[in-house]
Amino acid sequence: MKRRPLFVGNWKMHTTVLDACHLAADIAKTCGGLQDRDVLVAPPFTALNQVAHIVAETGILVGAQNVCWEAQGAFTGEISPLMVLDAGGAAVIVGHSERRRIFYEDNVLINKRLRGALAFGLIPILCVGETLAERESGQTFTVVEEQVREGLAGVEAADMADTILAYEPVWAIGTGQTATKEQAQDVHAFIRSLIAEIYEKDIADKVRILYGGSVKPDNIDALMVQKDIDGALVGGAALNAESFGRIIHFQGI
Ligand code: PGA
Repeated sequence: MKRRPLFVGNWKMHTTVLDACHLAADIAKTCGGLQDRDVLVAPPFTALNQVAHIVAETGILVGAQNVCWEAQGAFTGEISPLMVLDAGGAAVIVGHSERRRIFYEDNVLINKRLRGALAFGLIPILCVGETLAERESGQTFTVVEEQVREGLAGVEAADMADTILAYEPVWAIGTGQTATKEQAQDVHAFIRSLIAEIYEKDIADKVRILYGGSVKPDNIDALMVQKDIDGALVGGAALNAESFGRIIHFQGI
């Protein structure tokens, strides 16, 4: 089954508002108005609103890098789904390994964020992935299964149409060491079979599973040939319109 490719640029804690505006404008030039694939950029919160204005009318979507589950209230340091929507965001990354590892977010918290996003109509992008130690000790599938099951706990089948998954092996993020296309495909196929088991095959066939971890212009083509890889979640290479553009315009569709 052919799924519509999706490319997400995760800008992490980079860019001033001005840098973000320039980057968004450059990306809009090369990647706006594409009919056969989706493009989403996730700037820091501080630049989200301005970036949303810049890419409005180009078909490029804007997302946040995290979100709270409450609409408003005493949650110092958090941003609500309504605020993301209000600023022009349509999606949110949840469970990024940097949130898990550096800020101790666990599956229960990530699941709350994901369900909060869905409750307010934001598209959640749930990131999962094993560390190097987990891979080397043969735990990749166990860890990924737990992250998928617990991350999606309580999510209705109907909401899966709006939910995106991203497999990001922690050892591949920002290291220049991409998973091989076979390693990535194996885990993607596993995640898809898990979704079929939790929900049903039809849902699993439709859900988009992105690969993330040192995606670059020179490895995207091979990754995109894989049957269960539906796009990419890009960090470093998304901070440059030319390299992000090349990734989006991968060869071989
Ligand atoms: P990277 O980051 O492309 O710089 O490895 C990916 C991510 O963290 O989403």
